[in-house]
Amino acid sequence: MRLFALLLIAVIAAGPLVPPVVHAAEEVVIYSARHYGQEKAFDAFTKKTGIQIKLLNGDTGQLFERLKAEGDKTPADVLLTVDAGNLWNAARAGLLAPVDSPELQKSIPAHLRDPQNRWFGLTMRARTIMYNTKKVNPAQLSTYEALGDPRWKGRLCLRSSGYIYNQSLLATMIKRHGEAKTEEVVRGWVANQPVIISGDTKILEAIAAGQCDVGITNTYYLARQLAKDPSFPVAPFFANQATTGTHVNISGAGVTAHARNRANAIKLLEFLASPEAQQMFADTSQEYPANPKAEVHPVVKAWGSFKQDDINVATAGEFQAAATRLADRVGYK
Ligand SMILES: [Fe+2]
Repeated sequence: MRLFALLLIAVIAAGPLVPPVVHAAEEVVIYSARHYGQEKAFDAFTKKTGIQIKLLNGDTGQLFERLKAEGDKTPADVLLTVDAGNLWNAARAGLLAPVDSPELQKSIPAHLRDPQNRWFGLTMRARTIMYNTKKVNPAQLSTYEALGDPRWKGRLCLRSSGYIYNQSLLATMIKRHGEAKTEEVVRGWVANQPVIISGDTKILEAIAAGQCDVGITNTYYLARQLAKDPSFPVAPFFANQATTGTHVNISGAGVTAHARNRANAIKLLEFLASPEAQQMFADTSQEYPANPKAEVHPVVKAWGSFKQDDINVATAGEFQAAATRLADRVGYK
C-alpha cells in the first residue's frame, strides 16, 4: 500500500495524469519434443535479449494433441520437434503460422525448411548405413537399395517401419524412385529377415556386438557412442553417393498459429539459426548444424563430407501415408 501511495504521488508529481505503461514480462513459450540439449542456446538467447523462455517438454504426439485442443487459447508460441514429417503434420493441421524472415531464409538452406515458411530446420542429421568395422568391408556397401542384396541375409538390423525416422526415409525413396521401385527395394530388405530393434542406439549396440553387421540409423547416435568410446567398432557409410545422395532430415521449429509472443518467437528462431547458436547445437548434440556457417563436431568431422539428398525435407510429410501403406503391404513390421 505504502509503495503504491508513493508511486501514485510520483505519477501525480510527474505532471499530466497518464496511466503508466506496464509491460508484461518479455517471454517465449516453447512446446518441445526435442531432447537433445538445447538449453545452452536458450540461455544464451535470454542473456542476449532479456526475453525469458518457458519450456514445456513432451513427446511429439502429446504436444500435437495439446496444441490442437488448446486452439487459440494455447500459451505456446513455438513448437520445436524432430523430423520434418512431424513439422509437416503440424503445419497441415493449421498449428503453425508462416514467418516471413529474410534472416531465417539466409541462415537455413532451402531444402531444410518449409517452402511455405511455417517451419525451419535447426539441425540436420543423416540417416544412413552403419556397419561393423571388424566384419564388413565398406567396399561392399553402396546404397539403401543394395541392403536388399542376398549377401545381407540375416545380417541386417532395422528400426520398425512405424517409427517416423524410417517413414521419412521411405517417403523420400518413394518421391525419388516411385512406389513400385521402392516397394521392390523394401521387399529385398524384408527377404533378408532383418532383426527389428526399437531404437537407433540399440541398433548400433547390436552391430557392435555382432548381432548384425549392418543397419540404418541417424548419425548423431553413432557420434555420441564414439565420443564416449573411440574404439566403438561401428562406422557410417554414406549411402547413395553416386546417385541421389544420403537421406537427411531435421529437427526444427515453427511459430504457432496463435502465438501471443509472435515477435519474440521469431527473434528466438532467428537466434537459433544464427552461427552462434548453431555452434552450440552442433557441439552438444553432434548433429550437423543446419546453418553451414557453423562447424560440425570433431567426431563428425572425422567422417568427412558427403553428398546430401537435397530434395526438400517436406517430402517426408507428403509421402508419409504412402510410406506406411507400402511398409504394411510388404510386411516390413
Ligand atoms: Fe533422435
